[in-house]
Amino acid sequence: MSSTKYQDFRTRVLHEGQSPADWQGSTLPPIHQSAANRHPTAENLSDTFGGKTGDHIYMRLTNPTNKVLEQKLASLEGGAGAVVTSSGMAAITNACLALLRAGDEFVTGNSLFMSSYVLFATIFKKYDITARLVESTDLAALEGAITDKTRFVYLETIGNPKMDVPDLAGAAAIAHRHGLPLLVDSTLATPYLCRPIELGADVVIHSTTKYFSGHGDATGGVVIDSGKFDWQGGRFPDLQPFIDRKGPLAYLDKVWREHHINFGTTQAPLHSYLTMLGLDTMALRMERHLANAQRVAEFLTDRPEVKWLRYPGLATSPSHATAISQFGDRGCGGVLSFGLANQEECFKFINSLQMIYNLANLGDCKSLVIHPYSSQYLAFPEETRQMLSITPDMVRLSVGIEAVADICADLGQALDSI
Ligand SMILES: Cc1ncc(COP(=O)(O)O)c(C=O)c1O
Repeated sequence: MSSTKYQDFRTRVLHEGQSPADWQGSTLPPIHQSAANRHPTAENLSDTFGGKTGDHIYMRLTNPTNKVLEQKLASLEGGAGAVVTSSGMAAITNACLALLRAGDEFVTGNSLFMSSYVLFATIFKKYDITARLVESTDLAALEGAITDKTRFVYLETIGNPKMDVPDLAGAAAIAHRHGLPLLVDSTLATPYLCRPIELGADVVIHSTTKYFSGHGDATGGVVIDSGKFDWQGGRFPDLQPFIDRKGPLAYLDKVWREHHINFGTTQAPLHSYLTMLGLDTMALRMERHLANAQRVAEFLTDRPEVKWLRYPGLATSPSHATAISQFGDRGCGGVLSFGLANQEECFKFINSLQMIYNLANLGDCKSLVIHPYSSQYLAFPEETRQMLSITPDMVRLSVGIEAVADICADLGQALDSI
């Protein structure tokens, strides 16, 4: 296994965790498509169950291909370890439930991906777990919502689809002051744009389905543990057996041992392979996504049909200063949302697009558009849509890596037609 000898992310994303010498010279890891692993002796299998060998047992537990991806992603985020899962939602579910018991609470922002909201506000509620939602960028509100029952703080690096950017370092400082970890869904940022652990976050979660894979070909998720949070004593007596077993990686051990294994949130090795294939070009793709999104945001701002636009790269965005301070000059994300006059105009606009795909995904190398109000949020009560800033006049655009002139031309001709 290669050590971290390169500083630049653009090199590390290609070479971190690469071990062609162990793969008979192959430049990508083999796909270990095997449900279980044979052991030479009964003693060896027993030792492996006892955690003494590090060998693999059964795909639902671990898999050699998945292991390579875990090492790569942990390294790219500056974490100490990772567990890859079958989807981003599987990662979020495991990451949260590892810390929650009936009666517990956690604090989160009101700028959440749709299924995260459903999980937190509806499903967890059935098990007597309360998500306290506050304005994502309001640190005082976040601190005010912490109670004796709070187990963690949870934020998205760039809120989907509100496009707001919370102050992660500020949120981490508040969480730590109360003895709590900060969990961050960094799907829309990727470690190319932002590494939340460097800002004080304790756990980073991704849907690898998006920019990591980049080609819309594999679902996946990951939970990355910084290994820095002190779980000893305080609010987490239930982590003691995991501390005894794994020390600084107690939390990740709990995610894996209690939830990943028993919920069966296994990542398919083929999907890990496809994610690693995507990772090879991620830095290059992100560079183009970010530059294109900035240019598209400026183009749309100048169009009279566009009534409002949310993109942290615009100086008019309330999140602009935080985005610049956290993302530097790399860019401000590849997704933006904007408003037309009403739902009818949104439909006309989407139906007039000739190149940009109308579908429910983001982070693909192709440009993608969706009308969230009538699709992902169709079944949501009106007051919840309002609280999450999902309005009938809103279009979400995931800017791809096509020539930006062609993206703007397609958007322009569709706007002309409404
Ligand atoms: C910010 C964010 N987190 C999590 C997810 C869930 O990921 P997956 O679809 O891989 O379960 C998504 C999906 O769009 C997302 O946008």
